[in-house]
Amino acid sequence: MKPINVGLLGIGIVGGGTFAVLARNQEEIARRAGCVIAMKMVADKDLERARGIVGKRAIVTADANDVVSHPDIDIVVELIGGTTVAKDLILKALANGKHVVTANKALLAQHGNEIFAAAQKKDVMVAFEAAVGGGIPIVKALREGLTANRIEWIAGIINGTSNFILSEMRDKGASFQDALKEAQRRGYAEADPTFDIEGVDAAHKLTIMAAIGFGIPMQFKAAYTEGISKLTQEDIRYAEELGYRIKLLGITKRKDKGIELRVHPTLIPERRLIANVEGVMNAILVKGDAVGQTLYYGAGAGAEPTASSVVADLVDVARMLTADPEHRVPHLAFQPDQLSDTPILPMGEVETAYYLRMRVLDRPGVLADITRILADLSISIDAMVQKEPHEGEDRVDIIMLTHLTVEKNVNAAIVKIEKLPVVLGAVTRIRLEELN
Ligand code: HSE
Repeated sequence: MKPINVGLLGIGIVGGGTFAVLARNQEEIARRAGCVIAMKMVADKDLERARGIVGKRAIVTADANDVVSHPDIDIVVELIGGTTVAKDLILKALANGKHVVTANKALLAQHGNEIFAAAQKKDVMVAFEAAVGGGIPIVKALREGLTANRIEWIAGIINGTSNFILSEMRDKGASFQDALKEAQRRGYAEADPTFDIEGVDAAHKLTIMAAIGFGIPMQFKAAYTEGISKLTQEDIRYAEELGYRIKLLGITKRKDKGIELRVHPTLIPERRLIANVEGVMNAILVKGDAVGQTLYYGAGAGAEPTASSVVADLVDVARMLTADPEHRVPHLAFQPDQLSDTPILPMGEVETAYYLRMRVLDRPGVLADITRILADLSISIDAMVQKEPHEGEDRVDIIMLTHLTVEKNVNAAIVKIEKLPVVLGAVTRIRLEELN
């Protein structure tokens, strides 16, 4: 079979890794793909750097349009990132009949529906393994390996930067700010780390997993997104005393009334494997009705781990080039005309358990007042701890874990509890998932 020619847009960290892996493992990759996959063109604004990496092995250009319109290019790999230039280039590549491989989770989560429709119109493929979980083949698992199952829920640690920060806070007692600085020093977090620490990056990845897990369109705007920037050392310690770890989880669940789609700090039992995923590693739990729970673990970012997914997509596309479009794996795992319009549930309708921490005056009747409010809203308490007051103080921390309850009831309870004169300051609320 004749070689497949690839054009790369953006030779930064992941682009450089992709170039290196393709070159290093070319022979084995060709034996798997049934043809040589050749990187023919590379576009990058930094021509000098690009030439330094590529040498004479590919044509280097500063204009990505050269690549997406070049008649010899079969597959365009988009590793520029962002939702503007990258979107235009991908749509142009598709319009020119080229297949696309991308790691761009923000773009797919926000504009994936438009991009897949454009690809379908031209009978070309858009592959995106690298968009979720870096080197972990979770897209492959969800779209193909678990295809017999009705997926019930997915829960994942899908942002390495925030997981690293939480590990630092737990292991070293670091404050959030110090842990963030360490992540930046090590080059994990972006200069503007908002997407990482505020859960946005995780919500992009979760949106994609929900779409392929449940056969629904991409609905990033409907995702609930809460990051880790408000977590305190106290809550991490109290959670630990109760046998839990706090992780930033992306959770999507199929419920009778709709689909939950949410990213937030979450208490999980420390005995669960996923609770022990530390540092920048990622892990994703998928519950299927036939298979039960499955767990996928690995590097969620980095040059060669992400390149591993990009190259796997190149091989997939190469193998499917000659297949009839209707025999390919659909972009969102389900046939495009079979996507479901099951609604995403508003956060108030989500059902989960809660960790509530409040500082109260140590007086008779305080607990009775608080538990009355919870009982009136049908919130059942699973466990409760009252901490010793600091010396000479008459205020104590009370921590309550609830059973499963509906979020709107917890919100209403918090409003009422905060109005009690014996309760000092705001109630801290962190969601809790048993993951069983
Ligand atoms: N910024 C992401 C993370 C890596 O920290 O996990 C790329 O998705």
